[in-house]
Amino acid sequence: MSSSSPVPAGSRITICEVGPRDGFQNEKTFIPTAKKIEIANALFASGLRHMQVTSFVSPRAVPQLADAEEVLAGIDRPEGAWITALVPNLRGAERAARCRLDAVHTVVSASETHNLKNVNRSIDRSLADFEAVFDCLKDAGIAVEGGIATAFGCPFEGVVPPEQLARIARRYQELGAESVSLGDTTGMATPLTVRAAIRAIRESAPGLDIHLHFHNTRGVGLACVMTGLSEGVTHYDAAVGGLGGCPFAAGATGNICTEDLVYLLQESGYESGVDLDRVISAALLAQAAIGRDLPGQVIKAGPRLKRHDPNLTATAAG
Ligand code: COA
Ligand code: ZN
Repeated sequence: MSSSSPVPAGSRITICEVGPRDGFQNEKTFIPTAKKIEIANALFASGLRHMQVTSFVSPRAVPQLADAEEVLAGIDRPEGAWITALVPNLRGAERAARCRLDAVHTVVSASETHNLKNVNRSIDRSLADFEAVFDCLKDAGIAVEGGIATAFGCPFEGVVPPEQLARIARRYQELGAESVSLGDTTGMATPLTVRAAIRAIRESAPGLDIHLHFHNTRGVGLACVMTGLSEGVTHYDAAVGGLGGCPFAAGATGNICTEDLVYLLQESGYESGVDLDRVISAALLAQAAIGRDLPGQVIKAGPRLKRHDPNLTATAAG
C-alpha cells in the first residue's frame, strides 16, 4: 500500500528478499543450485514471504542465474509466499509463464545509457516490447511489478528527473502493472530524491502501488527507507547479508541488508513478520556459501541486547 501520509506505527511492512536474484547475479563463482535452494528455504524459515528468486535473462549475460527454472522448482513455498522473478523481454516472460510464479518484475532503466548496457535496447523499445510481455503474463495469470532501474540516478548520465519516473510509471499503469518498483541501482538515492520521486509518481499514476529498492552504496540506504515510511510506502526490497549489485552498472554494490532492515523496522515499532535471529542464521549460511565477509552490520554485531561475556573482553585498567 502507498499513501501520502506516514505509515502508522505498528503497521506491517513487506520486505521482499532479493538476495537470490540481485545478490547472486553479482557473484562470479557459480553457486550450486542446491545451495541457492537451501539459502532461499532458510530465508523463508525466518518468516520472509516475498522473494525475488531469480531472473529469466540471457545465460550469456548472467551465467549465475542460468538455473532459474531448477531453483524455482526446488524451493519451498510456505503459506502466504509471493514468489517473483526478473524478466527483461518476451523470451523471459515465456520462460516465466511455464513456472510457478506469483509475479514477474520487469526491468527498464530510467536512463538511456544504462538501458542499452543492461538490456541492449532503448527505453522506448523496452516499453514497446512490454505490451507482448504483459499479454503473455496475463494469459499465464502472473501479476507484474514494473521495475525501473537507475531510478534515482545513473552512473553514466547522472541526474534522473522525477518526470522520467512519472512517465514510465504511467506507462506501466496503462499496461496493467500492479505496482512500480523504483530501483536505486548504484545507490544514488537520497532522502530528498526519494520524496520527490514518490510524489511525482503518485501524481502521474494515482493508485499504483510503489515499491522501493535501495542499494547502500553510499551508506544512506536505510535513511531512504525512513523517508519512504514517512511518505507512506510499505514495501521494501532488501538482500540477505547486504549482497547485491548490477554487473552492468559501474560502481554498483550491495542492496540494503535484510537483517539490518528487519532490525530497523523492529526497533522503530513496525511489524515485518521476520525473526531476527533466524534471518541472521540465513545470512551466515549465505556468507559461508559465498566465502567472504558480507557487508551487513547486524550479522557482525548481533541483536542489540546480545550479551557478551566480560571474562572474554579485555579490561583497560593497569
Ligand atoms: N532468456 C534466455 N535467453 C535469452 C533471453 C532470455 N530472457 N533473451 C534472449 N535470449 C537469448 C536468445 O535466445 C539469443 O540466443 P542465441 O544467440 O543462442 O540465439 C540471445 O540470447 C540473444 O538474443 P537477443 O534477443 O538478441 O538479446 P540481446 O543479446 O539483445 O540481449 C537481453 C538482451 C535482455 C537478453 C540481455 O541483455 C539480458 O539478458 N540482460 C539482462 C541483464 C540483467 O539481468 N541485468 C541485471 C538485472 S537489472
Ligand atoms: Zn538492485
